[in-house]
Amino acid sequence: MILKTPLMAMPALGLGTWPMKGAECERAVESALSLGYRHLDTAEMYGNEEAVGAALARSALPREEVFLTTKVWFDKPDEASFHDAALRCLERLRQPHVDLLLVHWPSPGMDLPGILSALAKLHAAGLAKAVGVSNFPPALLRRALELAIAPLACLQVEHHVMLDQSALLAVTEPAGMVLTSYTPLGKGDVTEHPVIQAIARRHGATGAQVALAAILARGRVAAIPKAAGPERQRENLGALSLRLSPQDLEELRALPGDRRFVNPDFAPDWAA
Ligand SMILES: NC(=O)c1ccc[n+]([C@@H]2O[C@H](COP(=O)([O-])OP(=O)(O)OC[C@H]3O[C@@H](n4cnc5c(N)ncnc54)[C@H](OP(=O)(O)O)[C@@H]3O)[C@@H](O)[C@H]2O)c1
Repeated sequence: MILKTPLMAMPALGLGTWPMKGAECERAVESALSLGYRHLDTAEMYGNEEAVGAALARSALPREEVFLTTKVWFDKPDEASFHDAALRCLERLRQPHVDLLLVHWPSPGMDLPGILSALAKLHAAGLAKAVGVSNFPPALLRRALELAIAPLACLQVEHHVMLDQSALLAVTEPAGMVLTSYTPLGKGDVTEHPVIQAIARRHGATGAQVALAAILARGRVAAIPKAAGPERQRENLGALSLRLSPQDLEELRALPGDRRFVNPDFAPDWAA
């Protein structure tokens, strides 16, 4: 399933790579690509861009068949440092471009117009085919959309069946952006919820497949579950062929929607 917008064509299900590094990360990416994954998520901060790039090179897949995302960390708060860091990402990945380049987190002191200018320059130079942001709360996302020189194609945030992101979807949908769900399995925890397990039994599916299918059913929403080994990678891919019923979706909507797994001390005020 490919999410097509005027700005990019992103496979709806990708492989998250945090916190894998080195040989473990290379093995996971190689296995995912051989199973049919065509979307990889990495970041400067993960310390695994070399491994992701090496596995991608070894796969010998045509470059245009794989959608590659990376992100620049928030300690690059101005145009020059952000631009330079993005070039270093490409060097580590050994790639001429990425398909999506994201601002990893906002920070209180960041020069937002400067960073958006860096994104636009990298985009214009063909080094980032599309650009976007991650972990931006609604008001800041609206401000970024107003200031953006290169249009923002994607918002990456935590989203799963127990973290409703309606306030952000109300911004991304009219803007034509894809919302990419990170931590879509709630680190594995939400897959065990009794409501999810009951729905899974009705379909002969697994809790993880239900959790992922629920996200993908929302439309312009992607998911990047991390799974180190081929069994769970294959299981998670199976979500693409699971069709949840209106009743399933209603039961899932009734779950508490405020469970957040990623909330570091540098996180923004999520309600802002
Ligand atoms: N933009 C950001 O700030 C940000 C923040 C966090 C994450 N991310 C991205 O999002 C990706 C995914 O998020 P995440 O790693 O935090 O959480 P996640 O994908 O929700 O959960 C990963 C955990 O679930 C387990 N798992 C995988 N498949 C499973 C299955 N079928 N059944 C049960 N458990 C399963 C994994 O274990 P095994 O690997 O051992 O199988 C791992 O422990 C990251 O890898 C990263 O690329 C981005």
